[in-house]
Amino acid sequence: MNPIPEDFEMRPMTLDDLPQVYRIELDSFTLPWPFNSYVYELTGSHVSRCFVAATKDTGDRKKILGMIVIYLIEDEAHVATFAVHKDYRRNGIGWRLLLHSLRETCREGATHAMLEVRAGNLSAIDLYKKFSFVQVGIRKNYYVDNHEDALLMDMNELTLDNLSAIEARFLASGIDQAGGGSHDAC
Ligand SMILES: CC(C)(COP(=O)(O)OP(=O)(O)OC[C@H]1O[C@@H](n2cnc3c(N)ncnc32)[C@H](O)[C@@H]1OP(=O)(O)O)[C@@H](O)C(=O)NCCC(=O)NCCS
Repeated sequence: MNPIPEDFEMRPMTLDDLPQVYRIELDSFTLPWPFNSYVYELTGSHVSRCFVAATKDTGDRKKILGMIVIYLIEDEAHVATFAVHKDYRRNGIGWRLLLHSLRETCREGATHAMLEVRAGNLSAIDLYKKFSFVQVGIRKNYYVDNHEDALLMDMNELTLDNLSAIEARFLASGIDQAGGGSHDAC
């Protein structure tokens, strides 16, 4: 695991980020999205909200640490994909990125959040439970590579106050190390 860059921020994803975003995608999922899906999410989709955790550097020095795509459909924030760079996991980037993106979509009108996660992805499920996601369904044999089930999880009270309470719990728990589908859909 690499040391976390001190100077990182959560911000909207740009086309310029995509080579590094796609590296994270390939390293994180056995059924990765095609590269062009990201281009579409950024340029053609009206519902996509795409964010990265990234150093504040520009050009060759810029480092993308994590990425998330959320579909904002009426009052639902649907987590479509979400991953942290494999060398920087377990440093508090994931929860910060999820929190930031849910805050942004909540400000835009989302009142609940949904996602699908592989039944065996215990790390991600643990994270989602800390955000008050609860399992509301199961999609049998959802993933085409190994026929794994997807758990459908819902966070049914998406409010800014609840997100602040979740943030406070993470900060208090000492995880504050950081400075600052049939795809493996979340
Ligand atoms: C899931 C993922 C995004 C988490 O990112 P991260 O930056 O490592 O997570 P954080 O450091 O913010 O950890 C927050 C919480 O997540 C859970 N978690 C994260 N990694 C974990 C692990 N290896 N084992 C158990 N729990 C873990 C814990 O609840 C953790 O809180 P804690 O450290 O107080 O126990 C990251 O593991 C990842 O990119 N995985 C591959 C892609 C993926 O599965 N995406 C989700 C698809 S639905």
